[in-house]
Amino acid sequence: MSSTLFRTKKVEQSILDTEEPEHALKKSLSALDLTVFGVGVIIGTGIFVLTGTVAKNNAGPSVALAFVVAGVVCALAALCYAEFASTLPVAGSAYTFSYASLGELPAWIIGWDLVLEFALGTAVVAVGWSGYIASLLDNAGWQLPEALSGRDGADGFGFDILAAVLVLALTGILVVGMKLSARITSVVVAVKVVVVLVVIIAGAFFVKGENYDPFIPKSQPVEAGGGLHSPLIQTLFGWAPANFGVMGVFTAASVVFFAFIGFDIVATAAEETRNPQRDMPRGILGSLFICTTLYVAVSVVVTGMQHYSKLSVDAPLADAFKATGHPWYAGFISFGAAVGLTTVCMILLLGQTRVFFAMSRDGLLPRFFSRVHPRFKTPHRPTVLLGVIIAVVAGFTPLSELAELVNIGTLFAFVIVAISVIILRRTRPDLPRSFRTPWVPVLPALSVAASLWLMLNLPAETWVRFGAWMALGVVVYFLYGRSHSRLGRGEAGAGATAGPGARPPGRDSE
Ligand code: ALA
Repeated sequence: MSSTLFRTKKVEQSILDTEEPEHALKKSLSALDLTVFGVGVIIGTGIFVLTGTVAKNNAGPSVALAFVVAGVVCALAALCYAEFASTLPVAGSAYTFSYASLGELPAWIIGWDLVLEFALGTAVVAVGWSGYIASLLDNAGWQLPEALSGRDGADGFGFDILAAVLVLALTGILVVGMKLSARITSVVVAVKVVVVLVVIIAGAFFVKGENYDPFIPKSQPVEAGGGLHSPLIQTLFGWAPANFGVMGVFTAASVVFFAFIGFDIVATAAEETRNPQRDMPRGILGSLFICTTLYVAVSVVVTGMQHYSKLSVDAPLADAFKATGHPWYAGFISFGAAVGLTTVCMILLLGQTRVFFAMSRDGLLPRFFSRVHPRFKTPHRPTVLLGVIIAVVAGFTPLSELAELVNIGTLFAFVIVAISVIILRRTRPDLPRSFRTPWVPVLPALSVAASLWLMLNLPAETWVRFGAWMALGVVVYFLYGRSHSRLGRGEAGAGATAGPGARPPGRDSE
């Protein structure tokens, strides 16, 4: 049995599958498109919203250090992602990578993890977007009825109509085609980067040195209600729950990590890239570098403009300008944030439909979902299905705590990818790798340790939710994926290197 659970899909077959005409995606993206794509999804709720929350509750001005810590963790993971993405230019990101190296069950687990993390990430960003739009409408004197704004803590029925409408509109754009969405993305990304640069350059004139004192506020014990809400590491070692101090920087890093989610999604577009061997590493590392630099600069400026204890948690960048008496800048920043969050939402949605598509093409999910649209050449079925589900989730679910769940899932994917780099180097040393992760196995091992460290700094309750979610995935695999796997059935085109469990070729299970 274990030989079937760990059957691996040949790398060459993963590439061949992408050439089956009915299941092929259009190859239209360049390195620049990928970088724009990366920056488009990376800069979002993390910097526009979480900076304020985390500075206020966990780290003070040292939130800038938290961004550095999270950036280093991501850079280590990016070096591993880049090797895989340039070796395996196939839709599905970490899912495909682990199918080639670790085997079917680990690949299923990671695919399940990624689809749901991206879905929740999309919902989180859609709700954040809706908050900014609501605040802009409010400036103009318009307000949505309470029941249709669905804000956190609203009593009774609440449906966030703006968030749901955004997700449905983006779903339509993605169904129509990659080209269109990439073009829209470039324009929106430009707006977002200009807004961030305005915050840094204009804000620098309003910085007061005394706001940086102390740069790392002294550790403060958390009163009642620690327990499951505290970072797991504190619970494990029996430390008294505390905020701020050096450990506060790590707690903050595990939350602002959300701001970096997205560079890995660049890898999910590998199959749609013209020259993945060259362009993938450039796209992934380039977008990550640009964003880390901007985040550190923004957080240094914002915590210098306003004392961290006074930062707003809803719109910290805009409100810091209001606090210094510059409401015009605040309006401009709110507008840019709302525009920018649109692309984040769209690309998260895109990334996860592609993972779903890849799993369906392998038969682990119904094959019905991996027929591309005859005219648009997009995986329209999973796009519509997931778009509708996310619109409902975004409409009903409050933001809080979802971001931490997204983070733990993404960090878990990083761990698997780093382990896979080491394994694939041993099992397939012959594969051409246009980008090689340096210092294997030391660097991937460091990446595993760094990702696990951030995971340990997330609340214990986040671990419990994540465990439940993964357990459900394993059940679904045993009820459906295991028996429908094309690899397991030994179907033509599945490249079976499966063990004794492989069955004779059979029909597609649509
Ligand atoms: N990194 C993205 C954001 O900050 C997901 O919103």
